[in-house]
Amino acid sequence: MQKIRIAASLLAADFSRLAAEIRDVQNAGAHLLHLDIMDGHFVPNLTFGPPVVARMREHAEIPLDAHLMTAPTDHLVQPFISAGAKSVTVHPESNPHIHRTLSLVRQSGASPGVALNPATPAGHALAVLDIIDSVLVMTVNPGFGGQNFIPSTLPKIREIRDAVRQSGRDITIAVDGGITPETAPEVVAAGARTLVAGTSVFGKGAEPDLYEERIRDLMQAAEQSLASAG
Ligand code: DX5
Ligand code: ZN
Repeated sequence: MQKIRIAASLLAADFSRLAAEIRDVQNAGAHLLHLDIMDGHFVPNLTFGPPVVARMREHAEIPLDAHLMTAPTDHLVQPFISAGAKSVTVHPESNPHIHRTLSLVRQSGASPGVALNPATPAGHALAVLDIIDSVLVMTVNPGFGGQNFIPSTLPKIREIRDAVRQSGRDITIAVDGGITPETAPEVVAAGARTLVAGTSVFGKGAEPDLYEERIRDLMQAAEQSLASAG
C-alpha cells in the first residue's frame, strides 16, 4: 500500500531565503519539494526557471518535483530535468500533444505525471495511464497559493483511483491546492496519497519553528483517514 507523502510547495516559502527554507522544511519531515513553474501565459502568474531550480538542488536532499504550468512545454522538459527535477508533471490543457510530452519526460530520465485542472475530466489522465507514474489532481485553479479547496474535484479523484486499481499499475494520485488538516482526510479517502501543501506548511514563509508541527498535523489527519478507509 502506498504511504502518505507531503510535497512542500515552495511557492509559499520566503524566496529571499530559499536555501534555508529548503533545509528547514526537509528537516521538518517533508518528503518532496514541489516546484510551481508558472509562465505568465498558461497561468497568470510568473515564478522561476531552470537556473533557480539548479541552485535549489544544491540544498535539496529530497526529490524535486516540477509542476509545469506552461504553454508551450516541450522545450522546458530537458532544462528542468538537467536542473535537477526527478519528476515532471504537465497539463494536457496546455498542450494538444500531451502523449508526446510525457514520453519526452520519460526519455529524458524523469518520472512523468499529468496534472488536471478542476474542470478537466479524468479521461485526460486515463488516456495516458500506461505511460505515467502519477496524476496530480488540481484542487484549486492553478496560478496562486492560498486558495480554497474545490470539493467538486473529489469524484474525479475517486474515478482516477478506480481506473488506476483496474490498470494494476503503480501510479500515485497527488492533490494540489487548499490542502490542510481539514481537507486532507477527504482527499485521502478518495484515493490521494501525495499531498501538495504550500500555505498549510509555510504559512507566510520564514516560520521554520512551525514547519514540523504543521507537517505532523497534515500527516496525522491523512493517516487517520487512510486507516479508517482500510
Ligand atoms: C497552485 C500551485 C500549488 C500551490 C498550492 O497553482 O500548483 O502548488 O502552491 O498552494 P496552497 O497549498 O497554498 O493552496
Ligand atoms: Zn503545484
